[in-house]
Order: sequence, then C-alpha cells, then structure tokens
Amino acid sequence: MNNRTFTMIKPDAVEKGFITSILDKISVSGFKIIGLKLIKFTKIQAEQFYSIHSRKPFFNDLVSFITRGPVVVAALEKDNAVKDFRKLIGSTDPSEAEEGTIRKLYATSKAENGIHGSDSDENAEIEINFHFSESELF
Ligand code: RTP
Ligand code: MG
Repeated sequence: MNNRTFTMIKPDAVEKGFITSILDKISVSGFKIIGLKLIKFTKIQAEQFYSIHSRKPFFNDLVSFITRGPVVVAALEKDNAVKDFRKLIGSTDPSEAEEGTIRKLYATSKAENGIHGSDSDENAEIEINFHFSESELF
C-alpha cells in the first residue's frame, strides 16, 4: 500500500483561518479526502501521537502546542501519497520550504509549522487508525 497518508492542520494554521485554503491546496494537488474531522487532542493523545519525539528537547512544547486548540485531521488517498504529500507541505522549517509549499505559504516557525504529514506508509496507517475507524473512511 502506498496510496494513503495522514495529515493534520495544526492549531496555528487553524487559528489563522487557513483551514479552507489548505484543504483546497490539498484537493487541487490531486489528493482525495477520504476522512475529515475537526478535533482537539487531549494531552494523553498528543503524547501518544508524538511518542516518537518523547526524548527530544522540544517534546513538552510540541504537546502544549498541539493541544492548545482544535486541529483538522484527514486521511488522504493518491498514488505515492506519503512522498508526494511531504513534497507538497515542504521542509519542517517553513523558512527552508520551497516556494508554493503549504508550510511556505501558511506557516512561519519550525515549531509551529502549520501542517503534519506522515513520514512513511507504516506511520500513515498507524496515524489514520489513531483518528479514524474503517467505517469513517470513504
Ligand atoms: P510533522 O511530523 O509534524 O509532519 O513534521 P516533520 O516530520 O517535518 O518534523 P518532525 O521532525 O517529525 O517534528 C515534529 C514536529 O515537532 C515540532 N518541532 N519543533 N522546536 C523545534 O526545534 C521543533 N522541531 C520540530 C514541529 O511542529 C514538527 O513538525
Ligand atoms: Mg514527522
């Protein structure tokens, strides 16, 4: 399976009113939205979702950031979904992101960079299953 990825529009981008602009960019870039929700992470959910970063110096700031307001979570479908979506969002640090990428357009800081994209097919499935049951996917 290399046709699904998971994304999250992070609290900074939601606060700035970028939900619809970002979803539009995702759609016109050829991704089919097969699951979509507005949710707010609990602290425990955020710690679990980002457990891979639990030893990083920025972990506590990351959990505080991701729980401070609602996020949009979505499951996406496209050929080469993970790789193509990482290209669409751009580098982790928006100042290093290519022109036209979502982070370049809609984010300004490395810590608060607007959007998440899965980094592997395996993690895409884990992250989709974290937020959606099969019956919620179209
Ligand atoms: P993401 O998982 O959100 O798609 O981002 P990414 O792969 O580009 O970056 P990753 O290394 O997985 O980092 C996860 C998120 O942690 C925050 N971060 N803050 N303060 C910092 O130095 C720092 N580094 C990373 C960002 O929100 C990043 O997207
Ligand atoms: Mg990552």
